[in-house]
Amino acid sequence: MIFRQLFHQESGTYTYLLARRRGGEAILIDPVLEDTDKLLKWIHELDVRLIQAFDTHTHADHITALGALRDRTGCDTVIGRESYAECATIRVQDGQILDIDGLKLQAIYTPGHTDDSYSYFTDGRVFTGDTLLIRGSGRTDFQNGNALAQYDSIFNKLLVLPDSTLMYPGHDYRGFTMSTIGEERRYNPRLQVRNAEEYARLMSQLVLPNPRLMDTAVPANRACGRAA
Ligand SMILES: [Fe+2]
Repeated sequence: MIFRQLFHQESGTYTYLLARRRGGEAILIDPVLEDTDKLLKWIHELDVRLIQAFDTHTHADHITALGALRDRTGCDTVIGRESYAECATIRVQDGQILDIDGLKLQAIYTPGHTDDSYSYFTDGRVFTGDTLLIRGSGRTDFQNGNALAQYDSIFNKLLVLPDSTLMYPGHDYRGFTMSTIGEERRYNPRLQVRNAEEYARLMSQLVLPNPRLMDTAVPANRACGRAA
């Protein structure tokens, strides 16, 4: 299995590349537009062929490379069916399993950060987008975010995975690169709550500035990264 993680410094975004073998098919999760050339070079060097580019949700803090990658490689662009992005060529739904050259990737609908947030599970790893972050969780105060829905997504869809599941988030701002489900269950301060209401109260008390790119990134991302 080929598995790589790329960090986009300016937005703190992680992009993941997955493929089962050299010479085979590959996917990218949450590619950033500014990294397009770098990603294509990497794909070439790893001797894989990009067939699908995923966004875990409509991002507000960076512009997606989905459209650019589709233009340059002919890959499919994948997003949840709840998304407002009209440009996606594949719209996944909860429980759907995508087969990438024998690598089975399961879509898990995990709304809360946004109403189109998905996590993806494969082979002992879960990609949690902005639903569950390392020792944190994605904000729920815009883009149809909902803290009660996020509680349900985290507790009933992600924390039910085995403790040993490796967890890879959509972002990190403190230098962490990965965690496990068991570690987050025990040490994530947002998860030390008794119920959904307590979680929602905690989330409502966060005071966060709007992302700098929000006004341009959200409309652009609904068009897979092209100016809207
Ligand atoms: Fe996000």
